[in-house]
Amino acid sequence: MGTGGSDDRPSAGELTAPVRVGPIAHGGHCVARVDGAVVFVRHAIPGELVTIRLTQVRSRFARGEVAEVIEASPQRRTPPCPIAAECGGCDFQHLSAPDSRELKRQVVAELLGHQAGYAFDGEVEGFDDGFGWRTRMRYHRGADGSLGLRGSRSEQVVALPAEGCRIAVAGIAAPATAPGRGPVIAAAAASGTIIAEPAELPSTVTEQVGENRFEVAADGFWQPHRLAPRILTEAVLDALQPAPGEIAFDLFCGVGLFAAALSDAGCQVWGVEGDRRAIDLARRNVAGARFLAGDVARTLRRLPERAGVVVLDPPRSGAGRQVISQVIARRPRAIAYVACDPAALARDLATAVQLGYRIDAVRAFDLFGTTHHVESLATLRPA
Ligand SMILES: C[S@@+](CC[C@H](N)C(=O)[O-])C[C@H]1O[C@@H](n2cnc3c(N)ncnc32)[C@H](O)[C@@H]1O
Repeated sequence: MGTGGSDDRPSAGELTAPVRVGPIAHGGHCVARVDGAVVFVRHAIPGELVTIRLTQVRSRFARGEVAEVIEASPQRRTPPCPIAAECGGCDFQHLSAPDSRELKRQVVAELLGHQAGYAFDGEVEGFDDGFGWRTRMRYHRGADGSLGLRGSRSEQVVALPAEGCRIAVAGIAAPATAPGRGPVIAAAAASGTIIAEPAELPSTVTEQVGENRFEVAADGFWQPHRLAPRILTEAVLDALQPAPGEIAFDLFCGVGLFAAALSDAGCQVWGVEGDRRAIDLARRNVAGARFLAGDVARTLRRLPERAGVVVLDPPRSGAGRQVISQVIARRPRAIAYVACDPAALARDLATAVQLGYRIDAVRAFDLFGTTHHVESLATLRPA
């Protein structure tokens, strides 16, 4: 595969001969074949002819970066951000927002079709041009103390350009370098903007979604896109159509974003969350709901034996078979599964289908502009 090295196995750093890259895969890399071996290529577009600089060589596959574009896709653009090539944050800056949505659509469709037998025929819904959306940032210090962002798959800090980080909302995009040695957390909340080292942070900030106010730990989880809390809450309510008096579970509930909406709809709400700080805040944020702190798989048995509707919003690793089977044992009439990883979603949907539920609808949302990440919402109902 390589152009150098003492044996036939190439090593990281080597350049390949020109290769035509294939389809986009989960993770935002295009799949290429070099001497029969699979290479996942960052910053490529399907169909392009490129040379690849290998960054990691494993026994069964390799990873690489586009070194030179020999035949560019008509979709390729010059990344607007000058550090896009090195920064680990944005891997889709070489595509416009509509073109990147199309690639995300292909990834979602491939995963759901292949793993869950579901034909996704929707679009990835977009809300912006990919910039100015992120309300939470963690900046790291370079050797000279200046602030920057982590490089791709590396601990190296890439210095921020003068105009700052383009995906961050304006107030936190270009923080002034303050004295200090540690990382800097930035949050643009409804209660105001904070930019500080962890030890200097206030304990909480306040967010607002419609009429509901949420206290959130200043460095804790909150949906990062400025519009995501509202968009996802509306989508979940639309999917579940909760009825007054119904028992509703909000699993992986954080500080109670979906629990609040279900409680407003008149449901008897139970929330479960592993982060104890978040659950203490959820109790304050949604007075009418009951919350349990703990691992969802282990805590579910303490919840009622029947549920009308369930929201699942697990981390990237997904909910897992134990959680899906315990949820389905409650025979909810509808489940809304909010997912930031479509591969984990597809795997969990396949489990739900095996256990007698059907995938009624899937929506996908471009809430991570200029990156390969995509948010999805699947609705499940008894088959
Ligand atoms: C994607 S966030 C969603 C939070 C919330 N639904 C929201 O929208 O703000 C996932 C949440 O799951 C929690 N979590 C991760 N693994 C967990 C587990 N095994 N059991 C319980 N909670 C977990 C995390 O602390 C995090 O708050």
